[in-house]
Amino acid sequence: MKSNIILIGFMGSGKSSIGKTLCQLTEKNFIDMDEIVQSNVGMSIQQIFLKHGESYFRAKERELVNELESQSNLVIATGGGIVLDQRNMDLLSKHGIIVYLKCKLHTIVQRIKSNHSRPLFNPKNLHNFEQIFTSRVLLYEENANITVDVNDISINQSAAEILEIVKKMDL
Ligand code: S3P
Repeated sequence: MKSNIILIGFMGSGKSSIGKTLCQLTEKNFIDMDEIVQSNVGMSIQQIFLKHGESYFRAKERELVNELESQSNLVIATGGGIVLDQRNMDLLSKHGIIVYLKCKLHTIVQRIKSNHSRPLFNPKNLHNFEQIFTSRVLLYEENANITVDVNDISINQSAAEILEIVKKMDL
């Protein structure tokens, strides 16, 4: 049985909030990959991108995936770019069910527009953001075991829906 639940999806799709709620409903432990990378490096994601660049951040993200691969009973909120390296997904899916939190671009922009912690989001260049979004959708879809549309439902409803499907799957 695969004991981890891995949440994937674009920035602002609710991976961390839904992940925390999922942990309250289960006996699983919560892992927020962005939080751990920040504490491992000792800088915010914004600072990591500025000082070392995106490829350094991706390397740190990959290192963490390698560490998590052997752990069980986790709910993992990944960073939105986790799917850019297929090796990450191959490792995470060994012991985890991959859940894609599907969310419309418009909803995402509304949610994150006043939050300045995401280096890839520039409210003045929404065209670029839309391009990143479009290039990611297929990657999320291809890697997901389950897709949950989180546009019009609450965090609690999303978590409950995920749990119900996961229980039925009994992978
Ligand atoms: C990123 C998403 C962010 C964070 C970093 C890069 C991305 O995480 O990992 O800013 O490439 O989509 P969230 O999805 O939690 O915002």
